[in-house]
Amino acid sequence: MLSFDDDVVETTPARPAAPQSTTPAAAAFAAPQFAPAAPAAANARVNVVDKRVINGTTDVNQLVPFKHKWAWEKYLAQCANHWMPQEVNMQRDIELWKSPNGLTEDEKRLVKRNLGFFVTADSLAANNIVLGTYRHITSPECRQFLLRQAFDEAIHTHAYQYIVESLGLDEGEVFNAYHEVASIRDKDEFLIPFIDVLTDPNFKTGTLAADQQLLKSLIVFACIMEGMFFYVGFVQILALGRQNKMTGAAEQYQYIMRDESMHCNFGIDLINTIKQENPQLWTDSFKAELVELFKKAVDLEYAYAEDTMPRGVLGLNAGQFKEYLRFICNRRLQQIGLDQLFPGVTNPFPWMSEMIDLKKEKNFFETRVTEYQTGGALSWD
Ligand SMILES: [Fe+2]
Ligand SMILES: [Fe+2]
Repeated sequence: MLSFDDDVVETTPARPAAPQSTTPAAAAFAAPQFAPAAPAAANARVNVVDKRVINGTTDVNQLVPFKHKWAWEKYLAQCANHWMPQEVNMQRDIELWKSPNGLTEDEKRLVKRNLGFFVTADSLAANNIVLGTYRHITSPECRQFLLRQAFDEAIHTHAYQYIVESLGLDEGEVFNAYHEVASIRDKDEFLIPFIDVLTDPNFKTGTLAADQQLLKSLIVFACIMEGMFFYVGFVQILALGRQNKMTGAAEQYQYIMRDESMHCNFGIDLINTIKQENPQLWTDSFKAELVELFKKAVDLEYAYAEDTMPRGVLGLNAGQFKEYLRFICNRRLQQIGLDQLFPGVTNPFPWMSEMIDLKKEKNFFETRVTEYQTGGALSWD
């Protein structure tokens, strides 16, 4: 049996490893973001103990020896989760959408507002990874996951477009919702400054302030965007699916949620490893700033829930979403080592856990029999 643990070895450098930069600023300039390592380390073999998630000076082109093995394992798991939107049959959704006795007006509003957020959200996510996060991360195994994640985001945008096209929705209306619908615009306006920091060509890590900015953006992206801002939308469409409505769309969302759950977990591991490698970043004032961001995010996502379902739909109401968002917020805070903001809240949608855990041979909505795992199940036994 091939064990990947065997790959975690310290190689003997042909010459002494490049010295670690003595100042954070020097580390920033030495960080090999695009090309082989800085001159001093160019010919030195990678010593695993020198690898860092940020401000590393080891060669980013050498995937092994692994140090951040959790990232490689998540990359393999995510490749095994591969799927494509056009594999899902949308015929029943199309018939239901067009039937005069199909969905109520409130249900149709919910679907359109839901897609209105998602059709552009995953492009924001992809741009954040490709144009921002990637170049600031100096662990090649973490970069490997980010490359897969970027492709996942392209698949998600494809899936939302495929639903819009299948249902014959007004593309201009749906794709412009992030400009034109206040509750969607407010969520994106909250996120965009944190993306802009990382995509600014003049932004460089290597100082306390810059590294905190990067860490804050990573937390906003993984814990708030992927970890909270997607979940009202996921619950809504999956609740429709549970009532045997829009089952094709619900199946697509089920795959997307599985991917996002992995992205969120990767992001949390990334954040916690940066904290571990750079404990000086985790100051009391920084933590207080983060807590304020989480509070604001709960309010924004709750406003979006109210806007998408003002009268309550599908036996769901906005009040349940308030409880759910507080529950998720507590969980995200704890996952990065912060205290719960809302002690005592419980999960009003326990069925969501079952949806995230997709280790089934048949999909939840039974629109098709499928093998969820592809390509990743190689056995050497
Ligand atoms: Fe996504
Ligand atoms: Fe994602």
